[in-house]
Amino acid sequence: MSVPISFDASYLSPDVTPEEVYSWQDAVDTCHAQLHAKTGQGGGFLGWMNPNDMTSEAEVKKITEVAQRLRDESDVLVVIGIGGSYLGARAVIEALCGQGVHKVAFAGNDISAHHYRELLGQLEGNRVAVNVISKSGTTLEPAIGFRVLWHFLQREMGRETASQLITVTTDPVRGALRKMAEQEGYETFAVPEDVGGRYSVLSPVGLLPIAYLGIDIGTLLESASACAKACENPDLHKNPAYYYAVARNLLYNKGKQIEVLAPFLIRLHYFTEWWKQLFGESEGKENEGIFPAAVTYTTDLHSMGQWMQQGRRNIFETFIDVEAGEPDLAVPEGPTTADELGYLTGKQIHQVNREAYRATALAHREGGVPSATVRLPKLDEETLGGLLFFFEKACAMSGYLLRVNPFDQPGVEAYKEHMFSLLGRPGNEEGEKRLERLFETETIENILTFES
Ligand code: PA5
Repeated sequence: MSVPISFDASYLSPDVTPEEVYSWQDAVDTCHAQLHAKTGQGGGFLGWMNPNDMTSEAEVKKITEVAQRLRDESDVLVVIGIGGSYLGARAVIEALCGQGVHKVAFAGNDISAHHYRELLGQLEGNRVAVNVISKSGTTLEPAIGFRVLWHFLQREMGRETASQLITVTTDPVRGALRKMAEQEGYETFAVPEDVGGRYSVLSPVGLLPIAYLGIDIGTLLESASACAKACENPDLHKNPAYYYAVARNLLYNKGKQIEVLAPFLIRLHYFTEWWKQLFGESEGKENEGIFPAAVTYTTDLHSMGQWMQQGRRNIFETFIDVEAGEPDLAVPEGPTTADELGYLTGKQIHQVNREAYRATALAHREGGVPSATVRLPKLDEETLGGLLFFFEKACAMSGYLLRVNPFDQPGVEAYKEHMFSLLGRPGNEEGEKRLERLFETETIENILTFES
């Protein structure tokens, strides 16, 4: 299988020239060797680099069979997970099936009582299956989500039947969730030990929810593997993922601290959420890191477009351009000619959208925003697997070039410690005392109110 993804660097210039990118070849070679020999930072978390090794053939078969059984026995699958445990699946599902997919719902990714009330209301009367995903098995949001959904299922169908409709994706041996699954006899899938959440979409973490919708996970894996194979060549002339990684580091070194990912299809909104986590959690550490932001055009041209065109010039843009594959739909005639849009009549809506992309890239370049475009011939399993891998490999290379560990996330623990102390988790008593002292700064003088 070829890799039908291209990287258009035309509008990076003059901020970044091809010669500058190619001058980083030695650094890229060093990082590439470290990645492939697993001798660099986070070398124990590189299982995602070979998508076919993450999930054995037998496991892929089991995923397909369980997904089929759940499809037969339920109307809705509730996917419970947060961060890397759900964003990849949601990105693929929405990219391929659109945003109006009602057969899959997501929970356990916030702590909102309203969200749960609403969801439970929608689930009422439906046959519901649950896939709870947590590598650690201790993350608060999915743990709460699971309790809420478990009570719902139990009430609706009894504990025994509910057990048949609950699947757990977690650490292969350890953790509270694995223990619970064993006690209750739930079907389980393993998150590979050497794969972190944000790199896990092509493991059982993403594959089961994706397969539930009948999406061809075999092709998704095949296209990711083809991209992985192509990315084994570190030559910057032949590896667009590495070219992108170098270009973004060059831009960062020149003061472009924010990267804005900008697809022109609303169905890629969750892809941008997945991408933000991938780059944000991988690079934002040791006081370094490009801030990953995202917009969805053309919608956001009418909100953020002004900022992009004329705001502070500390940004660069990465467009995603999908050439074809959109449904055949032409702009119809209006009731009268008053809107003066006759010149559009009969033009394909997707053609109009692509001209909007070309116009935006040009206008923003003129406005001082360098940009690159990741281009796909269409959006399907054959391209999306490759696209996921493209960004994963680019992120790993970019993190190494930045000299950070792109595979850990020590910073996310800080708030959790405070939260557990505030919630009175046994064992956090010391933390509680420390917090009391810290909260002394929350004085009444610092709280501003309106005069009544
Ligand atoms: O990328 C990561 O490691 C994180 O985003 C995790 O996926 C997220 O925090 C959820 O963790 P867990 O799967 O352990 O519940």
